[in-house]
Amino acid sequence: MNPRISDAAAPDYVKNEGLKTWVAEMAALCQPDRIVWADGSDEEYTRLCEEMVAAGSMIKLNPEKRPNSYLAWSDPSDVARVEDRTYICTTHKDDAGPNNNWESPAKMKETLTGLFTGCMKGRTMYVIPFSMGPIGSPIAHIGVEISDSAYVVANMKIMTRMGRKVVEQLGEDGAFVPCLHSVGAPLSPGQQDMRWPCNPTVKYIAHFPETREIWSYGSGYGGNALLGKKCFALRIASTMARDEGWLAEHMLILGVESPEGEKSYVAAAFPSACGKTNFAMLIPPKTFDGWKVTTVGDDIAWIKPGKDGRFYAINPEAGYFGVAPGTSEKSNANAMATLHSNVIFTNVALTPDGDVWWEGMSKEIPARLTDWTGQEWTPEIAKATGRKAAHANARFTAPASQCPSLDPEWEAQAGVPISAFIFGGRRSTTVPLVFEAFNWNYGVYMAATLGSETTAAAFGAQGVVRRDPFAMLPFCGYHMGDYFNHWLKMGHVIENPPAIFTVNWFRMDEQGNFMWPGFGENMRVLKWIVDRVKGRASAEKTALGWMPRFEDLDWTGLDVTKEQFEALTKVDTEMWREEFALHGELFDKLKDRLPADMVQRRDQLQQALVD
Ligand code: GTP
Ligand code: SPV
Ligand code: MN
Repeated sequence: MNPRISDAAAPDYVKNEGLKTWVAEMAALCQPDRIVWADGSDEEYTRLCEEMVAAGSMIKLNPEKRPNSYLAWSDPSDVARVEDRTYICTTHKDDAGPNNNWESPAKMKETLTGLFTGCMKGRTMYVIPFSMGPIGSPIAHIGVEISDSAYVVANMKIMTRMGRKVVEQLGEDGAFVPCLHSVGAPLSPGQQDMRWPCNPTVKYIAHFPETREIWSYGSGYGGNALLGKKCFALRIASTMARDEGWLAEHMLILGVESPEGEKSYVAAAFPSACGKTNFAMLIPPKTFDGWKVTTVGDDIAWIKPGKDGRFYAINPEAGYFGVAPGTSEKSNANAMATLHSNVIFTNVALTPDGDVWWEGMSKEIPARLTDWTGQEWTPEIAKATGRKAAHANARFTAPASQCPSLDPEWEAQAGVPISAFIFGGRRSTTVPLVFEAFNWNYGVYMAATLGSETTAAAFGAQGVVRRDPFAMLPFCGYHMGDYFNHWLKMGHVIENPPAIFTVNWFRMDEQGNFMWPGFGENMRVLKWIVDRVKGRASAEKTALGWMPRFEDLDWTGLDVTKEQFEALTKVDTEMWREEFALHGELFDKLKDRLPADMVQRRDQLQQALVD
């Protein structure tokens, strides 16, 4: 053990021997210069950010424009989740399924033990206790992240309930999910640190569902490094949920209030960068007098069956790690208001007066900026080189408490009751604006076969249609066939399962323009969904599901003609023939554990729709 830390004591308030032992073992492995237990205080947050500013790894934004806010620019090799470096390590390969990269726990531990040995030399090891969900909620769970990144500590302070209060909740023998993280860039004495420490060539995002552990190496970005989010709240939690009879989902949760004051909650799963944050913070069109949408969560939902036969959902997070590009007063005024102060921006552009900018933020494009790579940027340079001012996966980290549309029940210990599930991908063709599944199992089929065009949220090719079942392809911690089965089962555990809907905001015309205005106008579809659940909206029965006719949606204040609506909702037989072939390809991959119900349903549906 490094002699300088051999006697680094945990603070007095740490009573959990299991936690102390684990921290000591990890310190012996990683050999940091010092250990700091994050207490989660505002003072600690400010001190860490100011240290990063002094070290040149963050920029303090102009306090008159953006109080208490910072900008970080990552290494160009470290800008998004790395799905090809993400592993589910189960004893049997089949348990991880064809939807995951697999390695045996023993082999992965051996590889990672090699990489983690001495990986924090010259750095500080932070211990970050966090709660996913309101502290003490029966739906919440505790994790402890060990990380050598101050940026991670600052982000975890916003994204989770973090610090001393969590250790106190843990008590002497509370359980926690150990989450080990390193940027994988040890420093030798006197070595100058990188602006954004990471390992540009070696990355592992490894999960051990059987022992509920996470080891992440080499990246400092988003879901790779903020381990409470995708690693714990989805990949590990999805296996916990399977074992314990609940659901951990890549879903936003929103409340809808009618003019009469009737309140409903819905949860919606869209793949990464496909509109969850925007939908969760929707502002209804002016003509929707008295309708109100409130935000419970924008990315993850933990959902448990309640005693009254309904599903109850909590948002396990406490902040938003949202996509910056495309966010504007016009598209998402609630997000813009949330970003007023106390924000960490990552990979957006810097304005000459010390504020931030990104593509789509304003109509007027600034004459001069410093782009996310630190280079001078002008509209002329952009035109000539195609260089973006902000990276397409640039993000903001902001406290949920600052969101004007925050739902009053967002921290309710029991969660909020869910009336409908909505699934939607980014599809320029094929999938109509909205339809309702005939029943639970049919809805599970539709969610299971969800397709979406890939986005910048993950490293790799963009705009390629892939199957993204339940928007969980990158996040399901076990075999996807078992996951479908779990969903089928959960519909029968619940007395009155929520209705299931499919939506598509992203259909394009032949010129490549979005055919649907989206954003606030999605309220028209949301109102129909809520009205369907309440049994007061009409629909037409089609082979695909229940679909609104033109006259079933409220069009006041929007210029959509009947012809345009028909184009938006058209079900093209040829395209669906191709679509079913793709469903078949997915099912082939999962065939070892695919529920028989899925195959039967595909055959029936194909027969009804295209044969
Ligand atoms: P993750 O945080 O990666 O899980 O993404 P998300 O699902 O929360 O997506 P987000 O709401 O941040 O939207 C991603 C991008 O899609 C942004 O650039 C939005 O402007 C754009 N977007 C969101 N909603 C709509 C919509 O209704 N129509 C169109 N055309 N674009 C949208
Ligand atoms: C996503 O990719 O779905 C995100 C961003 O929400 S990250 O936290 O990087 O996973
Ligand atoms: Mn997400």
